[in-house]
Amino acid sequence: MTYKIEMRNITKRFGNLTANDQVNLQVKKGEIHAILGENGAGKSTLMSILFGLIPADEGDIFIDGKQVHIKTPNDANRLGIGMVHQHFKLVEAFRVIDNIILGVEDVNKGLLSYQEARTKINELIKLYGLNVELDALIRDISVGQQQRVEILKMLYRDSEILIFDEPTAVLTPQEIKELIAIMKGFSREGKTIILITHKLNEIKQVADRCTVLRRGKMIDTVNVIDVSINEMADMMVGREVLFDVSKAPQAVGESILKVHNLTVKSPEQTFVKNVSFEVFSGEILGLAGIDGNGQTELIQAITGLRPFQEGTLTFKGIDVTNMSIREKYELGFAHIPEDRQRYGLILDFDLQSNLVLQNFYMEKFQSKFMLKFDRIREHSEKLINRFDIRSEKGPSTIVRNMSGGNQQKAILAREIQKPHHLLIAVQPTRGLDVGAIENIHKQLIDERQKGKAVLMVSLDIDEIMDVSDRILVMHEGEIVANVLAKDANINELGLYMLGEKREANNDGAHS
Ligand SMILES: Nc1ncnc2c1ncn2[C@@H]1O[C@H](COP(=O)(O)OP(=O)(O)OP(=O)(O)O)[C@@H](O)[C@H]1O
Ligand SMILES: [Mg+2]
Repeated sequence: MTYKIEMRNITKRFGNLTANDQVNLQVKKGEIHAILGENGAGKSTLMSILFGLIPADEGDIFIDGKQVHIKTPNDANRLGIGMVHQHFKLVEAFRVIDNIILGVEDVNKGLLSYQEARTKINELIKLYGLNVELDALIRDISVGQQQRVEILKMLYRDSEILIFDEPTAVLTPQEIKELIAIMKGFSREGKTIILITHKLNEIKQVADRCTVLRRGKMIDTVNVIDVSINEMADMMVGREVLFDVSKAPQAVGESILKVHNLTVKSPEQTFVKNVSFEVFSGEILGLAGIDGNGQTELIQAITGLRPFQEGTLTFKGIDVTNMSIREKYELGFAHIPEDRQRYGLILDFDLQSNLVLQNFYMEKFQSKFMLKFDRIREHSEKLINRFDIRSEKGPSTIVRNMSGGNQQKAILAREIQKPHHLLIAVQPTRGLDVGAIENIHKQLIDERQKGKAVLMVSLDIDEIMDVSDRILVMHEGEIVANVLAKDANINELGLYMLGEKREANNDGAHS
C-alpha cells in the first residue's frame, strides 16, 4: 500500500550518540498516529527531520509514495507538512491574524488582502471549532489559545500533514478535551496527524496507531485498540512500570513554612487574596487548582521571585518575610520552578555546571576561589545515575542539546540534593515519560520519609491525589479547601477547583 508518509531507515547521530537508529515510520492517510518513547528516545529528532529543521545522516522520506528531499521548513510547507512545536514561535506583540498570515501575505496585490485572509480563517475556525479572537494580541491570550493560533497557521497554509510535539503538556484538562475533539475533526476531513505525547490515556482516546521508540530505535507499530495502557508503557520503557504510588505511613513533624495572610497584587489585579497555610516536616502538601488561579503568583511570592503587598512568611520559626532569594536558599529552601528555561538552567553551560549552579561556592566544590572540577564531576555523575539523566556526553553535555525531559530531570536532581528543609516543586513531572514520573514520585516520597516538607503544585489532579498527604485547592486567588488526601474524592476536588464549592473557616493548617 502507499503510505501518506514513509520514513525509511532514518539515522541521525549527534557525536557519539545515535538519536535515530535506522528508524522506519509508516503513516496512513487520515490516521492519527502517535509516537511514544521515553525522554530522549529520539521523537523530536525524527519529527525535526521530517519538518526540515535538521538533516538526517541516512535514510529516505516518501510522501504519497514519491521520494522527497526536505531541506528546510519551507520545503516541508510546500509538501503540505505543518508542525506545532513544543515552544510556540509566535510574535507576542502582533495580533492573532497577523501571526497566522505572516510569511504568506499575498505579494502580488502589494496590499494585503486582509478581508480575504479573514474570511478564509473564519471558515477554518468554524469548520474545526478553533475559537480565538483574531484581533487580540498574542501576549494577551492564554497558552491554549496561542496553540490554536499555531494550528490555524498550519491550516491557513493548507497543510495536510499536521505534526504535534507534546501539545497537551501545557494545556488544562478542559483544553485537552477540546484539542482531542479538534484532532478527531482533522482526521475526519482526511488530514494526517502525528502526535507526540507521554500521556498514554490520550493515545488510547485519540490515536489509531502508535509507533514506539526506545533509545533511538523503532520497537514496533501497533493498533492502539489491541494494546492496553500497561502494555504500551512496558514496550516503551522495556520493563514493567508501576502506576501505583506506594507510601509508608509517615508522622507529621514541626511546622517548616508558615504563610500568613499573604496578598499579591498588581495595580490592575489581585492574584492572591489573604492566603494562609502551613507546610510541615514529613508531609507532601499538594496545591491543586485550574491554571491561572493564583498558584504561580503565590509560589513566586514565597520563593522571592515576585514582591507581595501584605502578609508574613515564617520558616522554622524565623521571620523570612523580607529575605532575598539567596538568603532563603541558604536557610534551606529548594525550588523547582515553573518556567524552567528562564529560571532553572543556563542552557549554554554543561550539565555538571548546571548541577552545582547555586552551590558552587561551597567548600565542597572550591578552595581559594578555584573550583574543584574533579569533585564537581564526581558529584554530577552520582546525580546523573540516581535520576537517570540521559544525554550525549554525560557531565560535559551542553544542556541546550539535551531532550526536554532530561533537562527537567537535571533541575530536579540539583534541587533535591542540595541541603534543604523545604522543597517547592512546581509541576515536577510535566513533560516526563511514565518511567521517569515513577522515579520522580519515588524521590518526592523519599523526601517526606527523610522529614523534609514538600509543597507540590500540579495541574494534574491524578498526580495530586496519588502523591500528596494533604491537599489545598486554590480558586481565584483563595484557598477554598484543605483536605487529607486519604479523605479526598476526585469529583469533590473538581467542584472546589471550579469554585462551585468551598469549605467554611479554613485556616490552612491540619484539619
Ligand atoms: N542538537 C543536538 N545536539 C546534540 N544532541 C542532541 C541534539 N538534539 C537532540 N540531541 C540528543 O538526541 C537524543 C534524542 O533527543 P530528542 O529531543 O529527539 O528526544 P525526545 O524523544 O523528543 O525526548 P523528550 O520526551 O524528553 O522531549 C537526546 O539524547 C538528546 O540529548
Ligand atoms: Mg521532545
